[in-house]
Amino acid sequence: MNGTYKAVEVSAPGVLRVVERQVSEPRAGQVRIRVEACGICHTDAATVTATYPGLALPRVPGHEVVGRIDALGSGVSRWKIGQRVGVGLIAGEDGMCESCRRGDIVNCQNPVTSGVTVDGGYAELMIAEARGIASIPDELTSVDAAPLLCAGITTYNALRNAGLRSGDLVAVQGIGGLGHLGVQFARNMGLRTVAIGRGREKEKLAKDLGAHVYIDAATENTADLLQRMGGARAILATGTSGDAMGPLVSGLAPRGKLIVVGVPQDQIQLNAFPLVFGGRSIYGSLTGTPIEGEDTLGFSVLENIRPMVETLPLEQAADAYARMMQGKARFRMVLRIAE
Ligand SMILES: NC(=O)c1ccc[n+]([C@@H]2O[C@H](COP(=O)([O-])OP(=O)(O)OC[C@H]3O[C@@H](n4cnc5c(N)ncnc54)[C@H](OP(=O)(O)O)[C@@H]3O)[C@@H](O)[C@H]2O)c1
Ligand SMILES: [Zn+2]
Ligand SMILES: [Zn+2]
Repeated sequence: MNGTYKAVEVSAPGVLRVVERQVSEPRAGQVRIRVEACGICHTDAATVTATYPGLALPRVPGHEVVGRIDALGSGVSRWKIGQRVGVGLIAGEDGMCESCRRGDIVNCQNPVTSGVTVDGGYAELMIAEARGIASIPDELTSVDAAPLLCAGITTYNALRNAGLRSGDLVAVQGIGGLGHLGVQFARNMGLRTVAIGRGREKEKLAKDLGAHVYIDAATENTADLLQRMGGARAILATGTSGDAMGPLVSGLAPRGKLIVVGVPQDQIQLNAFPLVFGGRSIYGSLTGTPIEGEDTLGFSVLENIRPMVETLPLEQAADAYARMMQGKARFRMVLRIAE
């Protein structure tokens, strides 16, 4: 294919600009995707501010990408032209590092990372590794599927891998792009679900999404309230403040887990007493693999889980990004590129 396509690139730290780029052909093992929708994740800030380790500008951000394959590189047999597929953050493992050799490909030490090592989905076209894409079920629109490929998979995997049992008390802290999906997953996994936000403004939305209880961390003592309910078996921390995460440990039941998925700029301060007396723990969880993306999409279809989105056209990516950064999105900004 000849000609050009439109993309939004980070040309310098903090600068998102619309550019025309030359269309290129997918190489061996790659596919070219005509992008229909791309969600705007808070992690995109690490590309926009050029702070992601190893990032070189210019770079097209975007790792919640859904579109249709319009060209196949040589050797690609699993996917077909016209098929609708998605790309998340970790979009190809090297297959050779120690993590990969142990089957832990999400922790590949040399991954293809959408919007970081390769151009992502703020564009009309994206080239992706065939091994790094997921199939999109017909039941989901591209706009609805896109946020599930990062915000969705991250919260779904963290919850389903936490050893929880139905009826357990679980809290989701930070009701943003990740958190609003985390609340829905927790509720639909049969968990007693608490949403922890700041202010009363999100209370009704959080309850509509399935939260049994809402805690306003700005005016209420979160740890005390959770302890009065018996203590949380797990707290999924999705917020962008380390300061807000440390005290959550005191809201856990004995053996409870603080699962960190948000990546704040500041440190997380911890008090050793509730960790030691009660055997509580804290650990991180990183997104997931393409097949786990398909699991996330499948569970969302099964339980009728959808992101709550606001859409803008590709040309307004900078405005959409700004709205997300200001905490105004309810709850995910999605670029509607073609559908
Ligand atoms: N682990 C992974 O694989 C993974 C994947 C995707 C994203 N992330 C990270 O997860 C975080 C959230 O991403 P997102 O896309 O959901 O972002 P988002 O939509 O911007 O939401 C961030 C949320 O953080 C909360 N927050 C902000 N400032 C806070 C403060 N001072 N104290 C407490 N909470 C605060 C807000 O919730 P309230 O207004 O309700 O308090 C806000 O809704 C980011 O750090 C992102 O980089 C990690
Ligand atoms: Zn993300
Ligand atoms: Zn590897």
